[in-house]
Order: sequence, then structure tokens, then C-alpha cells
Amino acid sequence: MWLIVDEAHVTNIAVREPYRGKGLGEKLLREMMRTASWLGMLRMTLEVRVSNEIAQSLYRKLGFYGAGLRPGYYSDNGEDALIMWAELVPEENAGTEIAGAAEGERSS
Ligand SMILES: CC(C)(COP(=O)(O)OP(=O)(O)OC[C@H]1O[C@@H](n2cnc3c(N)ncnc32)[C@H](O)[C@@H]1OP(=O)(O)O)[C@@H](O)C(=O)NCCC(=O)NCCS
Repeated sequence: MWLIVDEAHVTNIAVREPYRGKGLGEKLLREMMRTASWLGMLRMTLEVRVSNEIAQSLYRKLGFYGAGLRPGYYSDNGEDALIMWAELVPEENAGTEIAGAAEGERSS
């Protein structure tokens, strides 16, 4: 995951084939969204193959919406990418553990 100002960009997410369909991908993405929000990110984006209905279903379930196409984005077959975005829910007390740890370091 890349963090750019207040936007998180998911570069890849995958679950090994025998473990798919057991809720792991959803848990992984929810955790990435929680962590990104905790780090102060406001939005999350990713690209997904237009044919990848399974991944798109996961993303839509977690609040992502389609926001445009990148034509011929995938170099292996020239497939278009669907650009998706989600607004992140602000984490309560975001960053306070880091701030607290820094405070502790300074005072010790
Ligand atoms: C996309 C991927 C990460 C999902 O991981 P997963 O652990 O299998 O998904 P989960 O079991 O957590 O399912 C979460 C949601 O994904 C969708 N989903 C998962 N399997 C699905 C299937 N066979 N058909 C349709 N939707 C499916 C559903 O929305 C599901 O929610 P639901 O259970 O309430 O229906 C996994 O399929 C994968 O690794 N695919 C190959 C790599 C890939 O395409 N990555 C995305 C690149 S952008």
C-alpha cells in the first residue's frame, strides 16, 4: 500500500487459491483500510481488471465505487482497469499511540 498525502493506494491484494472464499480477503482489506485511516488517510483507491468480478464484489462490499477506466492498463493482455475509490472512516484516537510513544521517549 502506498500512502500519498491523505490517499492510500492499494497496489495488490491476494489470497492463495486453497484459502479463498473463507473471509480472509475481506479481513485483509478491512485491516488495510483501518490501518490507512489510523495513519491519517482519508480515501483509498485501487485498480482492478474489468473482468475481475470477484475482486470487484469484495471492493463494493467494503464501500468502493467505480470512478473511471484506465484503458489497456494491464500489459499482459491489454485489459482495461477499473479505478475504484472508497472514503475511509476516521479511526478514533488515530495516531495517539505513536504520539504517546514519542512523548514517552522524550521524557525517559
Ligand atoms: C479477490 C480475493 C483477494 C478475495 O479474497 P477471498 O478471501 O477469497 O474473499 P472473501 O472470502 O473474504 O470474500 C469477500 C467477498 O468477496 C466476494 N467474493 C469472494 N469470492 C467470491 C466468488 N467466488 N464469487 C463472487 N464473489 C466473491 C464476495 O463479495 C465476498 O463477500 P460475501 O462472502 O459476503 O459474498 C481473492 O479472490 C484473490 O486472491 N483473487 C486473486 C487475486 C486478485 O484477483 N486480487 C485482486 C487484484 S485487484
